[in-house]
Amino acid sequence: MDLLLLVLLFLAPAHSWLSLEDWGSGSVEGSVGEFGQCVCNVFLPDTSFPADRVEHMQTTSSQLSVEIKLQINKISSLKVQLEVLLGSLSNLTARVESLESGPDKYIKLEFELLRIELREFEALVTQLKASLNSSSPAFESLYIEIRNMSLIVDQLESYDRSNLEVIRIEFAKLQRKLEKCQDDKDDFSNAEIGSCKHGGILRIGKPIVSQLNANLNSGYKYGGWGKDSKPLPGSENMYWYSGSSDTLVSRITQYSDYYNLIMRQGFKTHELYVQNRYDWRGTGNNYVVRENTLYYQFRNPFAMGKLNMTSVTIAYKVIPMASAQFSYHYSANQNLDFAADESGLWVTYATAQSNGKLVLGKINEQSFEVEEVWQTSVFKQSVTNAFMICGVLYVTRSVDTQTEEIFYTYDTNKNEESHVSIPFEKFQDFYMYLDYNPTDQRLYMFNNGYYVYYNVKFKVA
Ligand SMILES: *[C@@H]1O[C@H](CO)[C@@H](O)[C@H](O)[C@H]1NC(C)=O
Ligand SMILES: *[C@@H]1O[C@H](CO)[C@@H](O)[C@H](O)[C@H]1NC(C)=O
Ligand SMILES: *[C@@H]1O[C@H](CO)[C@@H](O)[C@H](O)[C@H]1NC(C)=O
Ligand SMILES: *[C@@H]1O[C@H](CO)[C@@H](O)[C@H](O)[C@H]1NC(C)=O
Repeated sequence: MDLLLLVLLFLAPAHSWLSLEDWGSGSVEGSVGEFGQCVCNVFLPDTSFPADRVEHMQTTSSQLSVEIKLQINKISSLKVQLEVLLGSLSNLTARVESLESGPDKYIKLEFELLRIELREFEALVTQLKASLNSSSPAFESLYIEIRNMSLIVDQLESYDRSNLEVIRIEFAKLQRKLEKCQDDKDDFSNAEIGSCKHGGILRIGKPIVSQLNANLNSGYKYGGWGKDSKPLPGSENMYWYSGSSDTLVSRITQYSDYYNLIMRQGFKTHELYVQNRYDWRGTGNNYVVRENTLYYQFRNPFAMGKLNMTSVTIAYKVIPMASAQFSYHYSANQNLDFAADESGLWVTYATAQSNGKLVLGKINEQSFEVEEVWQTSVFKQSVTNAFMICGVLYVTRSVDTQTEEIFYTYDTNKNEESHVSIPFEKFQDFYMYLDYNPTDQRLYMFNNGYYVYYNVKFKVA
């Protein structure tokens, strides 16, 4: 089930050639861009799967389809409709062919889009192959076809490398438009950036899946991504990513903007471990980046860690009462969870004195000390994650494989706790990272290796 959703969501964002009508009653957030393409994200609830299209494609891609069907039937829990992928692939082939046969005004941009799509296909097929545990010839030929096409696109593109910068700028423009029309469509950001003149979260939008992590590795389930919550001047568009196949935090990569994040072209990777020199590694994957500084759970000793990525210097500070015994529900070693909001920097943890109930601490950024604490009444181990908005702690738990819920809030402005129910949809069952970013009022999630974000709608104060 998740994989079906995955395929569709994954295909959706970068695919300019899907016409809106194709997606039936799915929720489409988009418009026609200046190049005549639909440049927006498509979100498909699983109830609106375009069965008629799939049926049509099934009959046309007969032999391959039959073979793939066999594989799919083997694993009934995965409702993977590879036909959609194959249909898309043949469409892609047609586009590559048309690119080869003659110049076109927008050919440069097309190359970049094609390359991104091809990479996504490649990652997807690799993942599907692994999920289906299959060495089917259908998959092999699919894979070869994709590789082949990547080569063709590369060849074509090398004829005119000088225009890459133009492509980059155009793509960034498209991306901004995409984000804008999405916001417009959803009417989500209903509070001014930085303002706390609202009544807290009303609801959370659909998960928007950007792509698989920069390692293109679905085994990299542990990690996080996002933007700087208080960017230095000139770094407003920067993104960061850290990921691993275990709970250790060993490196962080910075990207100058969203385009470079998607293209996996980081400008800087900070290694937190260099053998025989230093070991600054962290654990738990509940960090934030603020003023170009990574705040994270330092591993040894167990402490708050602070990696200044400008000066590349490290500092750590033990929180006297914090316990390393209580983790969040989904993963081990998530003992310190950092958060940043409109009012500053925060850390949550549990203490033995409170029998594992969550404690919220406000960090003084100058002294790097926890200067004030609030005791909540929720047990950390039942919690899946937590984040802060405007001095209010929001605590989540799992409802089922598709649904997550904010079930508890603690307002530090009023010293008031509340039990609430704000459900939201997950992309896939488990996630390791969830944090709010006050600079764009979005929630960033690292969900089973995927970059996912949510828009937030606030209550009118
Ligand atoms: C392929 O993409 C074009 C737009 O470029 C669209 O008109 C056409 O319907 C698509 N074909 C399939 C089979 O999806
Ligand atoms: C799946 O993979 C495992 C490990 O690689 C292998 O032992 C097993 O035979 C495979 N099962 C099928 C049905 O191919
Ligand atoms: C891959 O490309 C080569 C040369 O461009 C071609 O001869 C071959 O048939 C292609 N293979 C597939 C599977 O498309
Ligand atoms: C990081 O280091 C730079 C250069 O030394 C310094 O100016 C800045 O204040 C530091 N940032 C933090 C958050 O400590």
